[in-house]
Amino acid sequence: MSEREAVTAARPAAPAARSASSAPAGRAVVMDGAALARKVRHEVAARAAGFAARTGRRPGLAVVQVGEDRASSVYVSYKRKACQEAGIESFGHDLPAATAESQLLALIAELNRDERVDGILVQLPLPGGLSPDRIMDAIDPRKDVDGFHPVNFGLLAQKRPRLRPCTPYGVIRLAQEYGIALRGVKATVVGDSTIVGRPMAMELLLAEATVTVCHIATRDLRADVERAEVLVSAVGKAGLIRGDWIRPGAAVFDVGISWAANGKLCGDVEFERAAERAGWITPVPGGLGPMTIAMLLSNTIDAACARAGTS
Ligand code: GUN
Repeated sequence: MSEREAVTAARPAAPAARSASSAPAGRAVVMDGAALARKVRHEVAARAAGFAARTGRRPGLAVVQVGEDRASSVYVSYKRKACQEAGIESFGHDLPAATAESQLLALIAELNRDERVDGILVQLPLPGGLSPDRIMDAIDPRKDVDGFHPVNFGLLAQKRPRLRPCTPYGVIRLAQEYGIALRGVKATVVGDSTIVGRPMAMELLLAEATVTVCHIATRDLRADVERAEVLVSAVGKAGLIRGDWIRPGAAVFDVGISWAANGKLCGDVEFERAAERAGWITPVPGGLGPMTIAMLLSNTIDAACARAGTS
């Protein structure tokens, strides 16, 4: 894909795209990430079947978990189940929390060599003592379906994306689905993590938004949120973004996940009050969570086709 095509691919179709000033009237449209994720997974399943027919093998994804972090175990089980449903072979590797870095690096080297494995995902966070940077750096960039390797992050930053981080890619896909304009709009990203915030800023730049990134040292978060026509929050702190800060008509993507005292899953944004002002908003759960897994499968089939030299 040429640089120009890459930029165009990331942009919603111009005639249909709408921004805060032309958002739907009344309460926000609640973006159905679960429904779009189903659609993406069906597309992946069809591509996986075609890949198997052409190559004689199913695409393969290795999902590695170290330790028994409860939330990670839930995410990993979703990822493995989604693989099976899409016709992608899942190779599970569950290692004890006491695994030495050299052992994990040896497993990654083996997976890099394994012809059946098209994608490698090491679930984060890793137990203390294991360097996520050294582990991510060791994954073959062509199998880096998380898009976290410096090569893939660098390619995205240079406007020639290859394997794109799943959650930010899911935000872009949802925006396209709902005809939300990104080109030229003021976008604010809250959170500067390497998993979501930073690649999200790169995706929005690729789509030609004007991007502000807020982080721990940001002085006036409210002001940066209030000017946002597109807001992506990825912090994991319930109630961080007050509903009355939302710009009328804005598109709000809530990537934050935390658990309330009653065990309920919460996003960063005060949903009910925000929905009275926003043009579009994602729910938690049912927004970016399912989209992240769908884009992981999409990256896996992309990686498989690129490795096999098929379309
Ligand atoms: N932990 C939380 N989100 C993710 C993700 O998207 N990929 C990996 N590997 N670990 C995570």
